[in-house]
Amino acid sequence: MIESAQLRLRAWREDDIATLHLLRNDVALQAQLLARVRGSDAAQVRQWLQLRSSAPDSLLWVIAAREGDIALGYVQVTGLDAIDRRAELGICLAPASQGRGHGRAAIAALLPYLRRTWGLRKLSLRVRADNAPALRCYASLGFQPCGRLREHVFIDDAWHDLVLMEVFLETACPA
Ligand SMILES: CC(C)(COP(=O)(O)OP(=O)(O)OC[C@H]1O[C@@H](n2cnc3c(N)ncnc32)[C@H](O)[C@@H]1OP(=O)(O)O)[C@@H](O)C(=O)NCCC(=O)NCCS
Repeated sequence: MIESAQLRLRAWREDDIATLHLLRNDVALQAQLLARVRGSDAAQVRQWLQLRSSAPDSLLWVIAAREGDIALGYVQVTGLDAIDRRAELGICLAPASQGRGHGRAAIAALLPYLRRTWGLRKLSLRVRADNAPALRCYASLGFQPCGRLREHVFIDDAWHDLVLMEVFLETACPA
């Protein structure tokens, strides 16, 4: 478990499924994550959680408020490569929990853990160029833009550019 002043990043539990089910089926929210909703039921959400938590190249935490331990969202690390010492980051907060500093606090708590415990050197991600909160959040944590994929995803009848970002953990969270 990883803790910050207000948050806890912890393993998923059965009683998180109702919240995570809503998030996984929120079309607008998943479009921010570059995912297309297929209409998962609770069993499919459980399967996704089990897979992400057990696959050797991925990690997943529920982001919960320390007070009450209620799920606010999730953060996942995928494509974990032990030789290249890099991985990709994805984060999703429920709409009601956005814009309160939780995104930044969750990632800020995660970065030193990924560096020290998993030996990661670099994290990267892809974010829609029109996702201002995410871009600001990542930039404030030391992620830097390192490329752009133009008109890369088609969402809501429009093409969207993606910004590629990366952070070197040694720089973002020195020992
Ligand atoms: C992206 C996300 C993780 C950011 O977390 P958050 O808790 O909402 O953001 P924070 O409150 O930590 O704020 C981070 C920065 O974004 C800014 N911000 C927050 N909401 C904003 C908005 N609607 N418009 C512009 N900037 C915004 C904050 O002011 C802050 O910047 P600052 O320090 O310069 O003031 C969260 O909004 C989220 O889960 N969004 C939906 C899914 C998503 O887009 N995931 C990322 C896909 S790559």
